Amino acid sequence: MDTVLIIDFGSQYTKLIARAVRELGVYAEIVPPEISPEEIQRRAPKGVILSGGPASVYAPDAPRIDKRIYELKIPILGICYGMQLIAHDLGGQVLRSDKREYGPSTLQIVQTDTLFDGLNSCEEVWMSHGDEIKTLPKDFVCLARTANVAHAAMRSRDGLFYGIQFHPEVAHTPKGKEILKNFLFKVCHIQRLWHPKDHVQEIIEKLKEELSGARHVLIGVSGGVDSSTAAVLVHRAIGERLIPIFIDTGLLRLGEAERTRAIFEKLGLRLRVVDASARFFAQLRGVTDPEEKRKRIGAEFIKVFEEEAQKLAREVGGIDVLVQGTIYSDVIESAGARGADRIKSHHNVGGLPERVQFRIIEPLRNFFKDEVRQIGLSLGIPEEIIWEQPFPGPGLAVRILGEVTPERVKVLQRVDAIVREEIHKAGLARAIWQYFAVLLPVRSVGVLGDGRAYGHVVAVRAVESRDGMTADWFPIPYGVLEKISSRITNEIEGVTRVVYDITSKPPATIEWE
Ligand code: XMP
Repeated sequence: MDTVLIIDFGSQYTKLIARAVRELGVYAEIVPPEISPEEIQRRAPKGVILSGGPASVYAPDAPRIDKRIYELKIPILGICYGMQLIAHDLGGQVLRSDKREYGPSTLQIVQTDTLFDGLNSCEEVWMSHGDEIKTLPKDFVCLARTANVAHAAMRSRDGLFYGIQFHPEVAHTPKGKEILKNFLFKVCHIQRLWHPKDHVQEIIEKLKEELSGARHVLIGVSGGVDSSTAAVLVHRAIGERLIPIFIDTGLLRLGEAERTRAIFEKLGLRLRVVDASARFFAQLRGVTDPEEKRKRIGAEFIKVFEEEAQKLAREVGGIDVLVQGTIYSDVIESAGARGADRIKSHHNVGGLPERVQFRIIEPLRNFFKDEVRQIGLSLGIPEEIIWEQPFPGPGLAVRILGEVTPERVKVLQRVDAIVREEIHKAGLARAIWQYFAVLLPVRSVGVLGDGRAYGHVVAVRAVESRDGMTADWFPIPYGVLEKISSRITNEIEGVTRVVYDITSKPPATIEWE
């Protein structure tokens, strides 16, 4: 498989480079600057990309690479800090600046080049840098400039090394994808494209091998796409030796446990559903502080999981491995690709690995969400799981403000089901990143029958987002809102008012907590 390695110097955009390259059909992996030339040679990438980063090449602790990497005859594209490092390492001069240029800029191409095939002589680009290159290394030519930067792009005369001062990986550089494409296919001459679903058989074979000595293997399933795909993959590899368990916290959406059980059954997996709702409600009694709720739910979840694992181990005669649905963005978000490899603590079964004695296997840790979806689809997992909106680990507890009681959960479950049903009916489910209802800790007056009553207030929340980091409120058409509101107040006794959340993130968050 033709691969590209991305050396991460700490830019907030490194993940976007990896995703952009993968979206172009090329397998890319993020590696730390400490990677040795020998390791690079062993992996035999067709190209190397040096990411941006916040440092100055002159800072004493600035990340560097082993200079022997330049002797490997592998094409290198340096972006921002990556470009400055190439210039610095190969004898150019980098000008120190205390000012940061940040924002849109116009790139003027001064020398036509393969890297810029398909671009006009002037293009909008996104800049974010402090230092800049004053003199190019010997044997380099300048390809482009901007009003403020004399050397906005450079190439070595042998065509092996490129540097660009702007960020092709962000949406604000409209032709950025074109530039990356030129680098991958015209400079690195990558030919073999990578489609995650073509690797499903390979993943299954590898799992067979890795799990050949294991007696039984456990996986905690949430009903989301990551854990479901991981479960089905492992099941294809080892069959009934995989034991998928589903913990019903009582804080799930209406009918969730049953729905997940039925889907797994169709896929040939027998899901063990553990109803632990009473334990979670006992933990949440009288608790109104949102962080305290999260802590208690997380701790109880680990306890229940551990107890179930021990019970199962006795029942089946030994469990050796725990499978987790960790995906690539979890890995790089929590470890920054710098080797620490922690698992995001709020992720559903997070915190478990340190506590249990199992070997951990993460079959999806090299895949982005879109890729996991492709793999899931090719395994026959139904679309309703593949395209399911994100749902927080602590469940409806983060959508019930104030105390979480079984009664209040019941109200919210039914309200939320109406919101989801109407969004589906309106054909909006795929267009909206998340859509749900929130139960507020206030009562408001309403008319019930002939009298006045103080009823629940619920909020409807719908947002568009790409990754959950930022979000815009979604304009649900008035007709749909009207239907949602009248159904809720007619069908759910005790709810007298429905409001619509029109805040984006930031300043608000997606969940209300
Ligand atoms: P906020 O509310 O911080 O949420 O804007 C961002 C995204 O994260 C989801 N979320 C969670 N996901 N466990 C999860 O797996 C959690 O504890 C959790 N809390 C929030 C939220 O639904 C949104 O998609």
